[in-house]
Amino acid sequence: MMPAEKIIPLKIRDIKSDFPALAQKVNGRDVAYLDSAASAQKPQAVIGAMNAVLETHYANVHRGVYSFSAETSTKFEQAREKVAAFINAKTEREVIFTRNATEAINLVAASLGQRLQSGDEIILTELEHHANIVPWYFLTQSKGVLIKTVPILENGALDMAAFDALLSKKTKLVAFTQMSNALGTVTDAAQMIAKAKSVGATVLVDGSQGIVHIGADVQKLGADFYVFTGHKLYGPTGIGVLWGREELLNAMPPYQGGGEMIEHVAFDKVTFKDAPYRFEAGTPAIVEAIGLGAAIDYINGIDYKGALAREHELLAAAEQRLAAIDGVKIYSRAPDRAAILSFGIDKVHPHDIATIFDQLGLCVRAGHHCAQPLMKALKCTATVRASFAVYNTIDDVERLAEGVMKVKKLFA
Ligand code: ALA
Repeated sequence: MMPAEKIIPLKIRDIKSDFPALAQKVNGRDVAYLDSAASAQKPQAVIGAMNAVLETHYANVHRGVYSFSAETSTKFEQAREKVAAFINAKTEREVIFTRNATEAINLVAASLGQRLQSGDEIILTELEHHANIVPWYFLTQSKGVLIKTVPILENGALDMAAFDALLSKKTKLVAFTQMSNALGTVTDAAQMIAKAKSVGATVLVDGSQGIVHIGADVQKLGADFYVFTGHKLYGPTGIGVLWGREELLNAMPPYQGGGEMIEHVAFDKVTFKDAPYRFEAGTPAIVEAIGLGAAIDYINGIDYKGALAREHELLAAAEQRLAAIDGVKIYSRAPDRAAILSFGIDKVHPHDIATIFDQLGLCVRAGHHCAQPLMKALKCTATVRASFAVYNTIDDVERLAEGVMKVKKLFA
């Protein structure tokens, strides 16, 4: 176990106190929140920014000439600019607001997928979340495209030799996670993108976890699409992002039809705007987009790099602590991993473990983590997942170890 004093002390102000929910108690104990991979807590800055819109100048965007609407529209578009800067997009026109990462992937599958033909191949990996499997599965049913999968190695890293062997002229699309939500495995995105590009494939990267713990420079990465969700990035639910290369987006057919995505409508002919509006039919998640912008401001305003380094040390400390306990099996073992510790305890179902943890005020996720093919590859049906964020402390690691010891005692 890494002694507490060895954990990088944050020279910045106390991050945890920025998150009001973390000051609460659960079952009489201070909450130890280790489920940020499912959804992160929100800093007061995000809550305040969202309330401020609702309390001061809320109105629909892009539709009103009055000042409330103009002010809200400006804030909404500023949020898009903040996202674009955060991921280093060439222009904010490449940033499409969606409901979440799932909708962003569905958008690409439904729109770009129209170009695919029977026999075309899509490469996914065994690490994928269902959100990066099911939208492509639809295309196997509607178009006859084939899904090929990159297996994992025993330690949970991807088998890159198998990936090389799957790539061919038939590969039209490669979609993979930057970081596994169930194991924390960090993939070599740059290398995978380069290889996929060498056979002319289009590439989508699921950055749902990666954006939080690794970050993304989409121009440097060189993929065609990068998706993530707001609520794991300390922002609100109901807002996600699809980044795509501008020329590609403008060549793609719309995903949903409705107001604001059109240039002109007649009953017999409709013409569409360019990206991003082409893909934003209907009233968007206005307050949530502004909340996501506030989350990015929050991240930019703290020593985020330092906070991530500390988060990493906490993960290492938790791994060491649990690995030393008899009967604990750790699934997260890829050489490059972040923020997530997936484990089991001999002869105890993960759901029982999570329920006992709750009695101690300890929040974790147990189950298949929306990654059933990965569970199959790991030869288990479920794991317990403790996931870390920038607000966690060494106390949370101690609480996790305490929880495991309590389970072991109860099931001894
Ligand atoms: N995708 C989220 C998770 O991994 C919900 O738990």
